[in-house]
Parts: sequence; C-alpha cells; structure tokens
Amino acid sequence: MRLATLSLFAGCGLLGAQAPPADIGSTMPSIAQALGVTCNYCHSAERGSGQPEPKKDIARQMMTMTRELNTRVQQITGNTSANVECVTCHHGVPIPRQIADILMQTLRTKGAAAAAAQYRDLRERFYAREAYDFSEDTLLSLAQRITTSRPDDAIALLNLNIEYNPKSARSYAAIGYAYTRKFDDETAIQYYEKSLEIEPNNVVRGQLESLKMYRKRKQD
Ligand code: HEC
Ligand code: HEC
Repeated sequence: MRLATLSLFAGCGLLGAQAPPADIGSTMPSIAQALGVTCNYCHSAERGSGQPEPKKDIARQMMTMTRELNTRVQQITGNTSANVECVTCHHGVPIPRQIADILMQTLRTKGAAAAAAQYRDLRERFYAREAYDFSEDTLLSLAQRITTSRPDDAIALLNLNIEYNPKSARSYAAIGYAYTRKFDDETAIQYYEKSLEIEPNNVVRGQLESLKMYRKRKQD
C-alpha cells in the first residue's frame, strides 16, 4: 500500500527531493478518489512556478470546513466516531450537485453550446460512476424548465438527448412542443409524428390531433 502510494506520487511528478509526510501520502489519493479527479486537477500549476491554483485553494478551505463539520456532527449526535469526509458530499465527483443544476448554471452564464459541451465532458468522465444522472430524464427536465423562455436552447439540448437516446419519444415530443412556442406548427407536427412513430400510444397523440385541427380551421 505504502509503496503503491509512493509510486503514485512519483508518477505525478509531485514528489520532491523528500518523500511527502505520511498523512499527505494517504490523504491525497483518497481526496482525489473522493472527487473523482487526478492530482493535477488541484495541483494545476508547474511546481515552483507560483502560478495560482484555484481548485487547490478551494480544497484547502474544504479541508478546514470538513474538520469543523466533524466537530459539529460529533457534538450534535454525541457520537465521537461520527465522521464527515470529502466523499460524504462528493461521492466521486468534483461538483456534488444535480447535473441538471450544473447545466442550468452554465446555460444561464455561457449559453446552450457551452452547456452541451459540459454535458459531453461530464458524461465521458463520469458515465460509469453513477454519480450524475445520465438517463434521458436529465436533459428532458432541464429543457422543459427553459422551453417557454428559451425554446431554441431547449431544442439544442433535446437534440443532444436524442443523440445519446435515439429512441426517446419524449424528447421528440418535447421538441415538437418547443416548436409550437416558436409558432412553427409545421415542424412541431413533424416531431410529434416522429414521437408517435417510436411510441404509438404516447400522450402526444392528443396534442397532434388538436394542432392539426387548429391548422385546418386556420386554412378554411
Ligand atoms: C481536491 C484537490 C487536491 C487533489 C485532487 C490533490 N491534492 Fe495534493 N494538496 C491539496 C491541498 C489543498 C494541499 C495543501 C494541504 C495543506 O495546505 O494542508 C495539498 C498538498 C499536497 C502535497 C504537499 C505539498 C503541497 O503542494 O502543498 C503533496 C505532495 C500533494 N498534495 C500531492 C498530491 C498527489 C500526489 C495527489 C494525487 C494523488 C494530490 N495531491 C491530489 C489538494 C489536492
Ligand atoms: C458538506 C459537503 C461537502 C464536504 C464535506 C466537502 N465538500 Fe467540496 N464541495 C461541496 C459542494 C456543494 C461543492 C460545489 C459548490 C458549487 O456548486 O460550485 C464543492 C466544491 C468543491 C471543490 C471545487 C470543485 C470545482 O471544480 O469547482 C473542491 C476542489 C472541493 N469541493 C474539495 C473538497 C475536499 C478536498 C473535501 C474534503 C476535505 C470537500 N470538498 C468536502 C461540498 C462539500
């Protein structure tokens, strides 16, 4: 174990002339694992370069916070072996939040293309961990939250969903609905029909009927 840890350090290029103190040697790998990241996620600057390391600064304060939490939790429960660790919150991911919330924040600040890129990146890195929810529901519910205010962004995210879940009848239906918000009924009808093709008995049938009826009345 000890040897494995040391060779890990050597591999990272963080091992200086001296071996690191024993507690660093065991806490660092466990922190990295708790956050699902590699060493240079925090140790991002060249050694000795004096460049800022923002994640490391956050991590340092998280360590202090975690110690304080432990004291509080032990006081509150009366259990002196109660133990809060990074993994208690992080569960193998650097940002322990619902992925929909993470994407929503990116969407607000940087737009749909950045949110889509972030989804791809997180999916690639964390898919097998079951830490973030990559089922079709995530992008669907996110898109539904923004369809009224930002139909184009909703359509972009739903197309991304279809890329990963080609049989998502609900995504096609949601795109159809987004097109009605853009007053493009013709495209909406195409997506509703595609949704019904995949899942003939879904709720979209009613919407499709009334949309067609409405268009017919407009034409008459
Ligand atoms: C989540 C952020 C994070 C990750 C991941 C991380 N470290 Fe650290 N590391 C820190 C922080 C913060 C300190 C400073 C601790 C302190 O000031 O008490 C530190 C300190 C160290 C030190 C002591 C020298 C220094 O830079 O302060 C070594 C050596 C080290 N880490 C190696 C590693 C190795 C090897 C890994 C990967 C197995 C790793 N770290 C992963 C945040 C991290
Ligand atoms: C009580 C819960 C909790 C504990 C315990 C905790 N964290 Fe966090 N940490 C969070 C939350 C929540 C965030 C994300 C904040 C946000 O939404 O940006 C976070 C964010 C971070 C980030 C920034 C990640 C990024 O990419 O922006 C780092 C680094 C981090 N934590 C390190 C640690 C380390 C190291 C430990 C253990 C010493 C730890 N945390 C313990 C809740 C916790």
